[in-house]
Amino acid sequence: TAAAIAAAPEDPLFGLMAAYRQDPSPNKIDLGIGAYRDDNAKPWILPVVKKADTAIHNDPAVNHEYLPIAGLGAYTSAAQKLVLGADSPAIREKRVCTLQSISGTGAVHLGGLFLAKFHPQRPQPQIYLSNPTWANHHQIFSNVGLSIAQYPYFSPQTKGLDLDGMLAALRAAPRGSIILLHACAHNPTGVDPTPEQWQQIAAVMREQGHFPFFDTAYQGFASGDLARDAWAIRYFVEQGFELCIAQSFAKNLGLYGERAGAFHFVSAPGADAVESSQHVASQLAILQRSEISNPPAYGARIASLILNDSQLFAEWEADLRTMSGRIQEMRAGLRARLEERGTPGAWNHITEQIGMFSFTGLTEPQVKVLRDQWHIYMTKNGRISMAGLNTHNLDYFAEAVDSVVRE
Ligand code: LMR
Repeated sequence: TAAAIAAAPEDPLFGLMAAYRQDPSPNKIDLGIGAYRDDNAKPWILPVVKKADTAIHNDPAVNHEYLPIAGLGAYTSAAQKLVLGADSPAIREKRVCTLQSISGTGAVHLGGLFLAKFHPQRPQPQIYLSNPTWANHHQIFSNVGLSIAQYPYFSPQTKGLDLDGMLAALRAAPRGSIILLHACAHNPTGVDPTPEQWQQIAAVMREQGHFPFFDTAYQGFASGDLARDAWAIRYFVEQGFELCIAQSFAKNLGLYGERAGAFHFVSAPGADAVESSQHVASQLAILQRSEISNPPAYGARIASLILNDSQLFAEWEADLRTMSGRIQEMRAGLRARLEERGTPGAWNHITEQIGMFSFTGLTEPQVKVLRDQWHIYMTKNGRISMAGLNTHNLDYFAEAVDSVVRE
């Protein structure tokens, strides 16, 4: 068999990271993968995570036993409250079921697998992804057998949201389609709908009977405000949608390698909501058991300590403001530098976009020159991870962008 297998291309993001590591230039800048860095371009362990770490280390009751199939109960219930709001009607009415997952990727996968099996659209359920979206969405959903379609999202002219294009595509999609939505800090564009635009999106989705699948990987990291970054999800729940959510704690707790996430399925309100939620939970448990048996404990323990303790929670909120604040400073600093230089083009989108990424508008050939001549690494669609910029490399980066744009 092996002889008949063609080579697959390297993963673009992880390939970029490897190339950056091998580059000996002292000027090199890594703007590739979306992982927070401090002002010295170093990974940052959140101070509150260090505290939780010590507490776990010193707790004699902690051992290495298996977690339940659905994960650590104190963690999944806190994760529900975090995303839906502690006073969510869906939680109160017991129509949310939650399974701990292998970070956001695992949650997206589990949700995709479940929908491929149980979504009523036949012969093959269709999922609509924003154009563009996180590249891995395409792989994950096609691997589980969903049929993939796209809706317009980003307008290259305004470098903002193409709302009309998006709404038209949602109207034209077959009734009951699954629509993948980024809850906040859209990856890769950094462009989010406003609350009024979300209301329009929800109205069309309701008319068409579509099923929202939210991906939330940046709650609290985008604006520094946990409730604001969950607004869209909570609005859809209030509107009575049946929906699901893939949640990650990789970015907002800086737990990248610990793979702490959750998959939530919210049943529509109604007389049989509790029972159908239990049925969904039982089917998800079978899928989870067959795929990973039970989830990893360590990251969930850390998150659970922080989410369930009001003092630690407040410290976490301060850490979130540190991260989102530094990113917002870098956005302002980059825009100001480009405007001071009179770099051709408009640069207002740099500060208008939000979250980990900015979709700069740099073209693929420009990205190549930045890499080959300036040792600056970013994905070829012109996305930059804002956290890779800092007070030491901002001038150099602005000079490089200015130079390639003028070429
Ligand atoms: C990214 O898009 O850079 C992050 O979400 C990391 C990843 O896993 O792709």
